[in-house]
Amino acid sequence: MPEKTTSPKPLNVLIMAAGLGTRMKSNRAKVLHELGGSPLIAHVSRTAQALKPQAIIVVVGHQAEEVKRATVDAGELAGFVVQEQQLGTGHAAECARNVLENSDSLVLVLYGDVPMIKIETLKKLIEHHNNAGAACTILSVRLENPTGYGRIIRDESGAFQEIVEQRDATDEQRQVKEINSGIYCFESRDLYNALRSVEPANDQGEYYITDVPAIILANGGTVSVFLHTDSREVSGINSRAELAEFENLIRRATIRKLMADSGVTFIDPSHAYISAEAEIGRDVVIHPNVTIEGKTVIGEGCVIRSGARITNSRLGDGVTVKDHSIIVDSQIGSNCSVGPFAHLRMNAVLEEKATVGNFVEVKKSRLKRGTKAMHLTYLGDATIGERTNIGAGTVTCNYDGVNKHETIIEDDVKIGSDTMLVAPVRVGARSVTGAGSVITRDVPPDSLVAGVPAEVKKKIR
Ligand code: UD1
Ligand code: MG
Repeated sequence: MPEKTTSPKPLNVLIMAAGLGTRMKSNRAKVLHELGGSPLIAHVSRTAQALKPQAIIVVVGHQAEEVKRATVDAGELAGFVVQEQQLGTGHAAECARNVLENSDSLVLVLYGDVPMIKIETLKKLIEHHNNAGAACTILSVRLENPTGYGRIIRDESGAFQEIVEQRDATDEQRQVKEINSGIYCFESRDLYNALRSVEPANDQGEYYITDVPAIILANGGTVSVFLHTDSREVSGINSRAELAEFENLIRRATIRKLMADSGVTFIDPSHAYISAEAEIGRDVVIHPNVTIEGKTVIGEGCVIRSGARITNSRLGDGVTVKDHSIIVDSQIGSNCSVGPFAHLRMNAVLEEKATVGNFVEVKKSRLKRGTKAMHLTYLGDATIGERTNIGAGTVTCNYDGVNKHETIIEDDVKIGSDTMLVAPVRVGARSVTGAGSVITRDVPPDSLVAGVPAEVKKKIR
């Protein structure tokens, strides 16, 4: 029998994420498929991090490099072991033998495809395990439809006997509604002792970690089962349909929270797509078919009209984003107006009260306070001063085929319609460019320039 410990043992988390996930019918490893904007594996590793374990060991195999990257994005604690051939979940645990066997720790096993599990639930599982003085504790739930899951088989007294996989179960065993969540606590030594006895004697010919509890039991160890009530938390994602179902659940929960806690209005909550990481201020109004991705922050009182997509960006208060605008990795100051059909990207910065209108693209550029570019314009690698007006059809010709060059437009400038600014170039304060001018040389302040190439016509002050 395992000894009861007086001081709690260190915790190690073992995450299994080497499988391809054949039921996804995908070229991408299952744990890389995204849920609520981040890969499945990132959800699980974030949860693992929150438990502050000694180490997180992730078993990788299919697309190992991508899976590692997706895991590390969610935190730094993780170490990796490679499972070259996916011979089953027992074999995956076996791959971490060198790291864990003699660690004298508690090993919490998580599956990379069970992303909804809550930290509190895992803490309760660990507590239950320690109180029971068990060698192994299995987290189980009851499901109305347990199809596909391993079943928890108990004897007449209700004591745990074994886990039987769906495909190996008898008709009678398949009636059992209590299933294995795939989440377990093991004493490290008991896990690795038992793994030596696991045989691939099942329908799939794989080494199953699910055989370990019965082996521990046969060796005289205590196996306990922690029956959890929220079955959704432990649902494994094995198909596209399940992925979509969970996406919808997360999406609805995020929107409910934004309405209840942050005071955000949704014109149609069933047609809004908001990342769980987004922060949205009071009295923001979100119209149908808006997508807000990543760590976007939106201030108070903004209006986001239909079809807009805002990714990893920051908006101040009172901003209006009109229909079908795209804002990526950018910053919009308070009381700015964007769109319709505007595209801001790669650190576009609009200072307070700037306006970017119809069919305007802004890349890696700053528009200072009160500046306007209303129609059909491209501004790339540009810095534009305050109160400047950019006429319709203006283009910063920033790329010479090899390098990108900068355009600087100072305060209070009026750029005439259809002006081409051949960068590198600077337009001095208060100057005016005539319609259709091509600016190939710097324009001094207080000048009217026009023509192709543009020349100074007169001083205007
Ligand atoms: C598994 C359990 C089942 C449980 C269900 C809960 C086994 C044998 N069965 O079944 O009892 O009810 O999860 O969701 O464990 N993996 C590896 N290496 C491998 C095989 C799998 O790392 O060689 C990883 C997968 O990437 C996945 C996880 O282990 O993240 C589970 O594998 P999966 O094939 O989805 O197991 P299930 O059939 O869902
Ligand atoms: Mg699974």
